[in-house]
Amino acid sequence: MSLGSMPLANDFLNEEQLNLPEESYSIDICFCTTCGLVQLDYVVPPERLFRNYAYLTGASEPLKTHFAALADEIYQHHHLSQGSFIVDIGSNDGTLLTNFQKMGMHVLGIEPAKNVAQLAISNGIDTVNDFFGLEVAKALVAQHGPAEVITATNVLAHVNDLSDFLNGIDCLMAADGIFVVEVPYLADLIANLEFDTIYHEHLSYFTLSSLNRLFTRFNLNITHASRINVHGGSLRIYGRKSVHRTSQLVDELLKSESDLKLDSLGTYLEFARNIVELDKEIRSLLKSLKASGANIVGYGAPAKGNVLLNYCQIGTDILDYIIDTTPFKQGRYTPGMHIPILPPQQFYENQPDFAFLLAWNYADDILQKETAYRHSGGKFIIPVPIPQVV
Ligand code: TYD
Repeated sequence: MSLGSMPLANDFLNEEQLNLPEESYSIDICFCTTCGLVQLDYVVPPERLFRNYAYLTGASEPLKTHFAALADEIYQHHHLSQGSFIVDIGSNDGTLLTNFQKMGMHVLGIEPAKNVAQLAISNGIDTVNDFFGLEVAKALVAQHGPAEVITATNVLAHVNDLSDFLNGIDCLMAADGIFVVEVPYLADLIANLEFDTIYHEHLSYFTLSSLNRLFTRFNLNITHASRINVHGGSLRIYGRKSVHRTSQLVDELLKSESDLKLDSLGTYLEFARNIVELDKEIRSLLKSLKASGANIVGYGAPAKGNVLLNYCQIGTDILDYIIDTTPFKQGRYTPGMHIPILPPQQFYENQPDFAFLLAWNYADDILQKETAYRHSGGKFIIPVPIPQVV
């Protein structure tokens, strides 16, 4: 399946860049009939994607709550003692590690984006500014010893050389340590037609069975798996080197994936057909609202929003502007469609008729937060799995 050629989803533009040509790369999604992994066939160099990064975990309140709960879960279930060594890979601004630091743990972040790593360091989180792999792991073990806990949330799908990454985990993790991974879940992507989460940064789209196959090759056993409500539905798994009892949930999820036929090409061909229909529905809804004289703005400027805007060709003819809470994005323009991004204040002053919810993964939180707007007649348009006005 192809989403066509589009600019990088996090390449927000400043005023001067608007007149310059934009780099664009094709997004083609492949299904491996041997190992069941769904993946992109073209890899944009990671240096290009991740050395300077627009995404800040701490800009989303729901994510802060999510990571506080994750730290609690790990602390409660794994009897960590004060001073345990915890490493977070793709640690971003240090949001997750801050929780462990408050518990008295020895924390270390690994973050390739220079701007984001600096922010974490200024927030008091010790951070190595690099991509994780075997070489980095060796240096860390020599300096700090093995890690009791390694977390990688929303990171594994971004990694091209999975072998080097997992060899690094094997090297860095203590014999009785745990590796906690969160990845967007392909079952949710397919069920909710979350096609906009498919973009250059996300190289792999995991199921528990494809992860299981991968982990087994690197002496890791998946001992626990659960579904969590972030990034449109994700999987959280715990991996260990030593053989531990596997939770019943692992078997249940593997069985449900087989029932959903996630290992069959036909499932993906049907998904591709559904996306073509969804594109038509989104465009026709927005165009008819616009034709009736309504004003519409975008709510949230996530990376996935740029995939949706470019794929459905939604520009300033439809959306007056987009609001976003991330300071870096404010005053910039979306890649490809060049829609201006403004601070949320603009939205409250204008009270537009419709807010097109590009950050649909936060629908519950945002709809609750914007009760006043909704009570005064404002409506949200949620694009997936079928466009609906709320
Ligand atoms: P997110 O969906 O987390 O990620 P991605 O970029 O990977 O698709 O991004 C959500 C964006 O929405 C982020 O730029 C912050 C913004 N946002 C708001 O503007 N207001 C809000 O109330 C929330 C929850 C997020």
